[in-house]
Amino acid sequence: MIDYSDSLDGICKEQLGGFFVGWRHPLTPTEHIRLLAGSSHFLLAMDQESGKVVGFITALSDGLLSAYIPLLEVLPPYQKQGICRELVRRMLVKLEGLGMVDLLCDPPLLPFYQCLGFQPATAASIRRPRPIDKQ
Ligand SMILES: CC(C)(COP(=O)(O)OP(=O)(O)OC[C@H]1O[C@@H](n2cnc3c(N)ncnc32)[C@H](O)[C@@H]1OP(=O)(O)O)[C@@H](O)C(=O)NCCC(=O)NCCS
Repeated sequence: MIDYSDSLDGICKEQLGGFFVGWRHPLTPTEHIRLLAGSSHFLLAMDQESGKVVGFITALSDGLLSAYIPLLEVLPPYQKQGICRELVRRMLVKLEGLGMVDLLCDPPLLPFYQCLGFQPATAASIRRPRPIDKQ
């Protein structure tokens, strides 16, 4: 069973791990907690049995008009069970009063986001390596 939480109370490094799959330098659990704490909103999906965090979503918002969803990930063994869908659904409830909610996604995921009310849009972005990536 999966629980959903928007709190870091009682969350420790040992409960976070395995995220940032494919990244050259995945964030450490300590950095991950910092990232969550620094986000305007976040949600965690927790495996009730193991107590581990198995998915998360973050949003950065100005609190008035707009929000951006930069990160959304579900650990591979927990994928294709609807956890991403539930994280997005719950985040959209949190962002309900805002007129602009944006995210970037790969083309195969676009139909899924369209089902949740997102419209295709043109985007522009800069991706810079973190200092650690240059080592
Ligand atoms: C993308 C990701 C978050 C999906 O998580 P998930 O919990 O497996 O997704 P769900 O089970 O809730 O499925 C959501 C929908 O997305 C679709 N989907 C999931 N992964 C997909 C993929 N790689 N390509 C295409 N569609 C995908 C599912 O078919 C499902 O649609 P359906 O309900 O109409 O069948 C997960 O694969 C992941 O963490 N990927 C790596 C990070 C990433 O790409 N994040 C997305 C940033 S926009």
